[in-house]
Amino acid sequence: MKKVDVILGLQWGDEGKGKVVDVLTPSYQVVARFQGGPNAGHTLEFNGEKYVLRSIPSGIFQGGKTNIIGNGVVLDPVLFREEAEGLAASGHDLRAQLCISKKAHLILPTHRALDAAYEAAKGSAKIGTTGKGIGPTYTDKISRTGIRVGDLLHPDFRAIYDRAKARHEAVLRSLDYACDLSELEARWFEAAEYLKQFRLIDSEYEINNALAEDRSVLAEGAQGTLLDVDFGSYPFVTSSNTVCAGACTGLGVAPNRIGEVYGIFKAYCTRVGSGPFPTELFDETGDALRSLGHEFGAVTGRERRCGWLDLVALKYAIMVDGVTQLIMMKSDVMNDFETIRVATAYEIDGERTERFPYSVEGRIDPVYREFEGWKCDLRQAKSYDEFPPQFKTYVEFIERETGVPVKIISVGPDRSETVVR
Ligand code: GDP
Ligand code: IMO
Ligand code: MG
Repeated sequence: MKKVDVILGLQWGDEGKGKVVDVLTPSYQVVARFQGGPNAGHTLEFNGEKYVLRSIPSGIFQGGKTNIIGNGVVLDPVLFREEAEGLAASGHDLRAQLCISKKAHLILPTHRALDAAYEAAKGSAKIGTTGKGIGPTYTDKISRTGIRVGDLLHPDFRAIYDRAKARHEAVLRSLDYACDLSELEARWFEAAEYLKQFRLIDSEYEINNALAEDRSVLAEGAQGTLLDVDFGSYPFVTSSNTVCAGACTGLGVAPNRIGEVYGIFKAYCTRVGSGPFPTELFDETGDALRSLGHEFGAVTGRERRCGWLDLVALKYAIMVDGVTQLIMMKSDVMNDFETIRVATAYEIDGERTERFPYSVEGRIDPVYREFEGWKCDLRQAKSYDEFPPQFKTYVEFIERETGVPVKIISVGPDRSETVVR
């Protein structure tokens, strides 16, 4: 029986998961998203084209694969329809390739309004969410009042919807949040009808049957480990389990059916939204990472905060995820840097620690190790042997510190700009 390989982000999201899922898909027959929703923006580039996927798995472009939106995902019919119709317009017919778990929860128009209302109520303590209704939808799921994709098939769906809407409106009133959702609601119902043309499935059976038939499955995560609701920099996190265990609950796969765990990280760090970021750079080096790395959100267009690679956080993520192989992204962004720094420990109140602390709110001084820059264009390399010695020193240091091999190195956004060792 085959196992499910999992690919997930080890930082604060936007590590390059979409690109790598696309690169790995030819080796798999099934690709399944296990959590998150349209807060994700997964970018893929090939043949001079660029696509950003939100809810649809990044295996969709390799053709002939089964792509599954798993039960752990929260789905907004309106945004899903936009995404699917955009792909159809560019010649990618999804119907034969895409199926959706009946147990995935639906994001309603009032969930988006609640997201905005809660953020406004938090004032300067706001999380800086993507505004897609993620938190309120997962809240309803956990409080057992959510609406699932399978409910769309219920003859009394309108009544189910109206009950949830009335509940949400009462909360919105209590927060003094006024908004007119009638236009969005009309589009939502049309999009909900559109959704029904896809195969609505019990994804846990689909995936376990695939494994039993020796078909290989790749599970695609969204966000990153440091945004996990349990292990991330709480409360500045998303509302799902982004860690490897999320693939079990988000797809219906038993823990002993997990195979390789691919952990993706950038050769530096970025973060969008509020919350602590110990190695953040507020100087021209941070600006250089942002402009050279095009570090602007794929979903919201917001500037991404940039900083040095943080090994304390990376080792923590590797531990909670059980990472077996590392994938390093975007090293090419630092091609011209004279020196490169990596945090190997934190100093908190004069005490040195290599543990990711309970709260990263207070003052943390990262302890840095400095590396000589490689000062050449990594994008030309086709094999590990072709990399300059300074770059190999950087990679091998990370491997030694983490105890996990770096198996894939991405040196540009295109599918082809990938070095596999
Ligand atoms: P995801 O959310 O993890 O899929 O990542 P995003 O798509 O939000 O952000 C990654 C960005 O980096 C995208 O614009 C990619 O096209 C780009 N990218 C991915 N890998 C590389 C790389 O190795 N080098 C460079 N320069 N850009 C990359
Ligand atoms: P991908 O899959 C980066 C961040 C938001 C905010 C916090 C909570 O593309 O890596 P939410 O809307 O989820 O309630 O926002 O999480 N965030 C992301 N940051 N990449 C993402 O997804 C993100 N999804 C959510 O900016 O700080
Ligand atoms: Mg992204």
